[in-house]
Amino acid sequence: MTDAAVSPPIHEALGPDISAHALHAVLALRSNVFIVEQECVYNDIDGLDLLPTTRHLWMVDGEDAIATVRILSSDTDPLTETTAPTQIGRVATHAEHRGKGLAAQLMQRALTIIGGPSKLSAQAYLEEWYGGFGFVTVGEGYLEDGIPHIPMERS
Ligand SMILES: CC(C)(COP(=O)(O)OP(=O)(O)OC[C@H]1O[C@@H](n2cnc3c(N)ncnc32)[C@H](O)[C@@H]1OP(=O)(O)O)[C@@H](O)C(=O)NCCC(=O)NCCS
Repeated sequence: MTDAAVSPPIHEALGPDISAHALHAVLALRSNVFIVEQECVYNDIDGLDLLPTTRHLWMVDGEDAIATVRILSSDTDPLTETTAPTQIGRVATHAEHRGKGLAAQLMQRALTIIGGPSKLSAQAYLEEWYGGFGFVTVGEGYLEDGIPHIPMERS
């Protein structure tokens, strides 16, 4: 259930602008959720976090990041003059802060920033949750790092 009245503010920074302190907090949260909690050994640090086309959104409680979303924007392909849909990923909320609408607020902010088509590789169990933001499943499910995923897009 969303409780905007007590939600912390949303912090936001592009890859080159995020402070070491903030990035450390975001990576610690992602590591806790995706690697430790979900027991999935994968390369979370994939070389995309510092790109000028990457935008981080996060919320904090004291020194700790408690919710985060990462937006990957693609440049326009000069040959085809087409732009791949912006991608939302690394959606995570600390286990002790779930169910308070934090991720929903970050998703809403991300969609407002993007203002156009977007896509994501959703963990399959969240199909309905992402559907609530207007994403629809656009293909077959697949395994990503051993976890069931589905491709979803929003126009
Ligand atoms: C998915 C996740 C980010 C949601 O964070 P959150 O801050 O609790 O999200 P919100 O509070 O905004 O929304 C929670 C809603 O999701 C729903 N939800 C959570 N887990 C769910 C599940 N397994 N199946 C279906 N719905 C689920 C809740 O019922 C709740 O619905 P409500 O708002 O109608 O009460 C969080 O559970 C998480 O970090 N999970 C582990 C990481 C993960 O799987 N990330 C997604 C990668 S694609």
